[in-house]
Amino acid sequence: AAEGDPAILNLPEWSKTLGMPVALNPYGQPSKFESQLLRRESPGLARVGQASVSFAPLQGLFGIITPSGLHFERHHQGWHDIDPAVHRLMVNASDPAFLKKPKVYTMDDLMRLPSVSRIHFIECGANTGLEWGNVAVPTVQYTHGMLSCSEFTGVPLKLLLEDCGVDYKKARYVLAEGADGSSMTRTIPMEMVENGEVFVAYGMNGEMLRPENGYPLRLVVPGVQGVSWVKWLRRIEVGDKPYATKDEAVHYIDLMPDGMHRQYTSIQECKSVITTPSGGQRLLEKGFYNVSGIAWSGRGKITRVDVSFDGGINWQQARIEGPVQNKALTRFNINWVWDGKPAMLQSRAVDETGYVQPAYGQLREVRGTKSIYHNNAIQTWKVVESGEISNVQVL
Ligand code: MTE
Repeated sequence: AAEGDPAILNLPEWSKTLGMPVALNPYGQPSKFESQLLRRESPGLARVGQASVSFAPLQGLFGIITPSGLHFERHHQGWHDIDPAVHRLMVNASDPAFLKKPKVYTMDDLMRLPSVSRIHFIECGANTGLEWGNVAVPTVQYTHGMLSCSEFTGVPLKLLLEDCGVDYKKARYVLAEGADGSSMTRTIPMEMVENGEVFVAYGMNGEMLRPENGYPLRLVVPGVQGVSWVKWLRRIEVGDKPYATKDEAVHYIDLMPDGMHRQYTSIQECKSVITTPSGGQRLLEKGFYNVSGIAWSGRGKITRVDVSFDGGINWQQARIEGPVQNKALTRFNINWVWDGKPAMLQSRAVDETGYVQPAYGQLREVRGTKSIYHNNAIQTWKVVESGEISNVQVL
């Protein structure tokens, strides 16, 4: 602060008067000074907002939990606020031999069952999808904001299937269906259910799910792209083969350089991004900065994050803020003294399988430039002498 700073010399109003009473806001809201931190829609992405996406403001978030009101949204046919008293989950089978007792559960039935609470990231398979060919959007909110991380609470799907008498030898796949008008259906291999990781969630960050995120029930499929996390979950069917629904045969497929499509690539590979400082922000002056970002992997825990300030020539190991969770966002920080000269900030994450996040050149060699889904390339933020930061790509 400057000498003679009135903010320190003058006693402010709030030190001389009575403050506001308790429960003035029975459901608390952020400070009015934080009114710019919002989820935002990228103009021109979809013709109607009901089939669109709003991006989480990653540049202004700390730690690993996304506040529920800022969780990104992706709807194929709009959202509804469904009355939990009339919401039902049906569990059935494509062949009666796969399930002894098909059942319909009410929300009350589900909430009496043994529950789990786990922190997981959810990332839309299309996150960073506009950047396959070249730089397309200016800020981390738009490059990486189809990503959020919450503590979800619910009942393992395994428990429900076993309650219905599943025959794991015959039923090797699950079909999840939402109650909205989008006929959103996705196949989930039974191994993911059998290992206990997939659950039907009603809770998010200590309270019930928000309507936009699937209230009163959604599927949580850790490590898998967001489209499989079916919202407003109303039906689970078990079967003996993948279902090849529209959302897996035509959408959410990877266009490869030879013109062929790759299907059923659902795991979100290891990825990271520096969130502050990042595109669209401006460094004030040279000197010390805490460079902060997030890393995640659909295959398990993050083991290491390296940061480069010169576009990938030299790397330094970042501090990982633990405890590191399985298939959750992981916060990293690193000290940086900016000398006022141009710089290129990058982060590169490694997960517990040893997989290293690729550079754009490496990723494009395998995947080409025409794809939409599963872009996990290293992000570069360019800093110029004025302190302005922009989105660039380094091969
Ligand atoms: N489930 C239903 N029923 N309808 C949808 O439109 N969108 C899917 C998935 N589940 C969708 C859905 C997609 S593409 C994503 S990325 C995630 O929900 C987004 O979840 P969120 O809106 O909670 O961020």
